[in-house]
Amino acid sequence: MDKLIVEPSGPLSGEISISGSKNAALPILMACILPRGRIELTNVPHLADIRTSCKLLNILGCQTSFENGTVVVECGDLDPHAPYELVKTMRASVLCLGPLIAALGEAKVALPGGCAIGARPVDMHLKGLERMGATFELTEGYIYGSCDKLRGAHIVLDFPTVGGTEHLMTAAALAEGETILENAAREPEVADLANFLNACGAKISGHGTSVITIQGVPSLTGCEYKVMPDRIEAGTYMMAAPLTGGEIFLRDCPFHELESVVNKLREMGVGVEETPEGVMVRAAKELLAVDVDTQPYPGFPTDMQAQITTLMCLAKGVGTVEENIFENRFMHVMELNRMGANIKIKGSTAIVRGVDKLAGAPVMASDLRASASLVLAGMVASGSTEVQRIYHLDRGYERLEEKLGAVGARIRRVKG
Ligand code: UD1
Repeated sequence: MDKLIVEPSGPLSGEISISGSKNAALPILMACILPRGRIELTNVPHLADIRTSCKLLNILGCQTSFENGTVVVECGDLDPHAPYELVKTMRASVLCLGPLIAALGEAKVALPGGCAIGARPVDMHLKGLERMGATFELTEGYIYGSCDKLRGAHIVLDFPTVGGTEHLMTAAALAEGETILENAAREPEVADLANFLNACGAKISGHGTSVITIQGVPSLTGCEYKVMPDRIEAGTYMMAAPLTGGEIFLRDCPFHELESVVNKLREMGVGVEETPEGVMVRAAKELLAVDVDTQPYPGFPTDMQAQITTLMCLAKGVGTVEENIFENRFMHVMELNRMGANIKIKGSTAIVRGVDKLAGAPVMASDLRASASLVLAGMVASGSTEVQRIYHLDRGYERLEEKLGAVGARIRRVKG
């Protein structure tokens, strides 16, 4: 298994270009099952999860190619079986279930795996599809779903689940009649998927709000579509400047989609300035502790929780980080404490007391964003930090060591 060796870097300085969004590209790729004709997606990040999605599409009967950030998909005769070997590494692959039922009337999809952050069931996905007429059987780790023809329905989600909203919206695109999704997720990636489906001929409105309306259409066609930039990658690099006392310009940074993160950074004393080409981030004179609580969009993203915790480790005072989306999402805390941080967990809240310095150590995390927070910590810790199990990082950050290396970080990959 590869690992990263992170050495203290001093203030970072320079420019980083933000890649296309992983969390937008994945549901868009799963939605590619529906249209007939050639689909060309640009600004797709080179990540393990994208390659896994292409492999899954191939197994399901689609032809794919992935070069220079462009994925081309053309579906032939579909096969309804998504095998465990592919689905187990990536939770988003469950999003092929609804589209397969919509296209073929049946599907057999393994129950998903992915990052080890809590139980992460898919009950809301299944309940919503049932409201549209699908029936399910769960046996031997597989979901068997069927329905002659999905019908539009009025669905009120118990919680604004991101994947659930994306899944139901995609399936409803080809259902008979109108579907209304209430308490829908408002995340920008949901809106990006809706824009893609509309470019294929779907009739979706209200995306970006908590009520999404989908008028089913008989068929979808191919299109060319550019995936939105990755707000979580951008947010992660935003933390790197103040952490190291440096200045970084983030090209193609989606500023407005990061408002809650920008607000917290400004409260900490960090300079964040929007320009037409991107965002300039400047270190604080003195980094101040803040209170953060994760919420569905437009609240503070759970996917930025670990990274801001690292920043707060070196801030002045005591701050709190409350996790409200996932249980068991504090795996980075034990590791940060091993590096000299002073963090206590009370229920779903981490209480972070600022310390003067961190010290390098061998660390690992079984979650993508937790791993990123440890790389950030390593850049300011004294001595070497060895971040193990970086296949999680490779699932979500395109060329991380190269991008951070270009602004002065000292990060080396050791092949294992
Ligand atoms: C997506 C993102 C992930 C992000 C998360 C929350 C992708 C590929 N992943 O994950 O990076 O951290 O949104 O912003 O886009 N839940 C249920 N039942 C369900 C569905 C969800 O109980 O049927 C629970 C989950 O266990 C979790 C919460 O709802 O506690 C939020 O999950 P959800 O919004 O669905 O996240 P994902 O789509 O899995």
